[in-house]
Amino acid sequence: MNVLGIESSCDETAAAVVTDGRVVRSSIIWSQIDQHAPFGGVVPEIASRSHLNAIVPVVNDALGQAGMTLDDIDGLAVTIGPGLIGALLVGVQFAKGLALGLGVPIVGVNHIEAHFMAAFLTDSLPKFPFVALAVSGGHSSIFRVDDFGRFTLLGRTLDDAAGEAFDKAAAMLGLPYPGGVAIDKVAKNANPASVAFPRSMIKEPGYNMSFSGLKSAMRRHVEGRVLSDQEINDAAAAFREAVVDVLVAKTMSAAVDCNVSDIVIAGGVAANSRLREVLGQRTAQKGLILHALPLELCSDNAAMIAGLGHQYLFGACSDFDCPRGLDMDPFTRLVATGG
Ligand code: KG4
Ligand code: ZN
Repeated sequence: MNVLGIESSCDETAAAVVTDGRVVRSSIIWSQIDQHAPFGGVVPEIASRSHLNAIVPVVNDALGQAGMTLDDIDGLAVTIGPGLIGALLVGVQFAKGLALGLGVPIVGVNHIEAHFMAAFLTDSLPKFPFVALAVSGGHSSIFRVDDFGRFTLLGRTLDDAAGEAFDKAAAMLGLPYPGGVAIDKVAKNANPASVAFPRSMIKEPGYNMSFSGLKSAMRRHVEGRVLSDQEINDAAAAFREAVVDVLVAKTMSAAVDCNVSDIVIAGGVAANSRLREVLGQRTAQKGLILHALPLELCSDNAAMIAGLGHQYLFGACSDFDCPRGLDMDPFTRLVATGG
């Protein structure tokens, strides 16, 4: 079964074909980063209009890369939330029209669930139940995942997402967007102990997190000062260390408390080299298995949408009675049959 996945929730227009929920036949990602970079963040109206321009060529490229035509597609999966509403609408309406025209079924997929279930597109399959950290520009959440379609939100950021905090801190330091990438780069040869940034909520019970205090601390650190290049790099390293400490502490305690053997980290911030290094060390010490997704599956992509869509259309969740752990808009459960 070939599922065409479409993703347009934020600033990437993406399409992919996945066979049998496991084999990525193609994955095309059209990034809008250049269009948003001058503003230091994603501008929703620019995102929607850019998706409109890109969606047809991106889908055509995904079919071409897979060596397929639309006649080879057995079902469609499209990101239905969370995300920018105007941006989502482009992908959802396009996918619905295509499914109707082709007479194939379509399912709306939760972007966050798709991030951590992308682990099933790799050779390193996590064992249920596992703990997943989904951490990106729009979300920072920890889940216990019991099965396909069965997961429970354990904790999340109460304010800024980790990626959002990275992006804002980078802007304060005069580093380019996307800030997480820039901070990760300049932090490599810098001193993480140079600034004592807060680790909010790290000692509190539970798995919720907060990054807005850290962001304010960065603002206070840079305010009214002209930083040298070395001071910028040091502040970036100290900031990255603070974010990583919180993410690692909360993820590890969730894994220990839930008594799982496997941890999956996904989402754009899961590309962070220090997060992968520290979590790698900590999981090894505890005899846990870390599934840090390959970088191309960390950032937004449509292969994760097609892979999870397969489970809902034709695979483990195809009875659609299986409970979903995340409280979502009921529209996300909608499964329509085209034609
Ligand atoms: O998953 P993603 O591509 O899009 C969303 O769904 O948000 O994540 C984008 C976020 C941005 O905030 C970006 O700064 C961050 O991921 N990011 C990183 C790294 N690469 C991307 N943050 C920290 N370290 C990185 N290496
Ligand atoms: Zn994402």
